[in-house]
Amino acid sequence: MAKTKTIYFCQNCGYESAKWLGKCPSCAMWNTFVEELAKRPSASDKNDWRSTSGGGKRASAPKKIEEIAHEKEQRINSKNGELNRVLGGGIVPGSVVLIAGEPGIGKSTLMLQIALSVNHKVLYVSGEESEQQIKMRADRMSQLHAAECYILAETSTQEIFQQVEKLNPDLLIVDSVQTLYSSNIESAAGSVSQVKQCTAELIKYAKETATPVFLVGHITKEGAIAGPKVLEHMVDTVLQFEGDRHLTYRILRTTKNRFGSTSELGIYEMMGNGLREVSNPSEILISQKDSELSGVTIGATVEGNRPLLIEIQSLVSTAAYGTPQRSSTGYDARRLNMLLAVLEKRCGFRLGLQDVFLNMAGGIKVEDPAIDLAVCSAVISSLEEISVSDKACFAAEVGLGGELRAVNRLDSRIAESEKLGFKEIYVSKFGMKGIEPGNYKIAIKPFARLTDVFGDLFG
Ligand code: TYD
Ligand code: MG
Repeated sequence: MAKTKTIYFCQNCGYESAKWLGKCPSCAMWNTFVEELAKRPSASDKNDWRSTSGGGKRASAPKKIEEIAHEKEQRINSKNGELNRVLGGGIVPGSVVLIAGEPGIGKSTLMLQIALSVNHKVLYVSGEESEQQIKMRADRMSQLHAAECYILAETSTQEIFQQVEKLNPDLLIVDSVQTLYSSNIESAAGSVSQVKQCTAELIKYAKETATPVFLVGHITKEGAIAGPKVLEHMVDTVLQFEGDRHLTYRILRTTKNRFGSTSELGIYEMMGNGLREVSNPSEILISQKDSELSGVTIGATVEGNRPLLIEIQSLVSTAAYGTPQRSSTGYDARRLNMLLAVLEKRCGFRLGLQDVFLNMAGGIKVEDPAIDLAVCSAVISSLEEISVSDKACFAAEVGLGGELRAVNRLDSRIAESEKLGFKEIYVSKFGMKGIEPGNYKIAIKPFARLTDVFGDLFG
């Protein structure tokens, strides 16, 4: 017989405690502890996937690393270029990937799209939608053709494994992990112990059969459902699907990857008929306009491993009501204040009585300091009402002394600007090591100080 025991779990981070606590000592959230009945499995318990089929325990002995046989890993092509890149070149057999995101961001849409496009036998298990609803969604994505996609509306892991054994799919998708229920544990679906247990069972299945598993997990702020945070250390790869629900762009970001780099990024656009891959993101981030406007500049940033050109818009106007306002969208407000102070103190611009608004086009958040120079130029362009040529772009960090500092990966920023038809790029003089201006068609303009750049731009 299994022993039953009551444990309290923080529903936000999974912290375990023997008694109820008001505030979680681990994640500092209030009121997140919930009593859960954890059944400690005893030796006789059938706890695993396929444990019924017996099979003696394989004793494992330590092996020398050279002696471990290693086949060249065969990745499965998901037929989705952005996802392949984010995963590090395709789906690794036996890997468990968690796709986390807020409700309504498009996780189910992405997963169904993968299920429909991949050239393998896929089982899509949904605990949230009925088969009819999934079929309706699939019909909207008419451009895809499913070779072998099976749908199962089920929440019990034991039932799922029974079907899996019959069907033997090449890829298993579970939407979402919070709806799963394992009868090995008595807690409610969505509680920390259930989510952990179900994930552990799925991981075991993935490792033993080398079948890749995709898990969808919701993030909730209130901790009503166990957050996928609990699972991050269990799975091989964590992909964060983010974006603004009101804007159509979605970003798929790796936060953990045992089989690739975590600096990759995938960009999608939510269309009426599913998610469209955006393979040239710079195009969507630079608005088409017929005349040059003051206050608009282009910054060459790098997101992950990808160079991106982003339009920065600034509006500077005299503050009408006393204290000037400073507001920024997609850019750190404190950094904007710092740059304004540099412009005032080091370059002599009078910004103290001006409202300053800053906006990154396309609803994108930028943290790369290399766009500092583009931000400063946009602000001064708006202040002075002089437009900056739309054939110019910028890539340099601005220091507190008003000096331009070198940025990483300057070569790829220059190459991307050239590819998109820019004629000149303003960079820091100190970052020119290894850059041969003769190799590029784009004119590279190295400067040491902000004031020199403004002298060149605005005369
Ligand atoms: P969904 O994949 O259900 O989100 P999640 O699984 O992350 O909760 O998608 C949510 C939104 O996407 C929904 O509000 C409608 C929109 N959508 C489209 O705009 N186009 C489409 O083709 C589909 C299927 C959904
Ligand atoms: Mg969903």
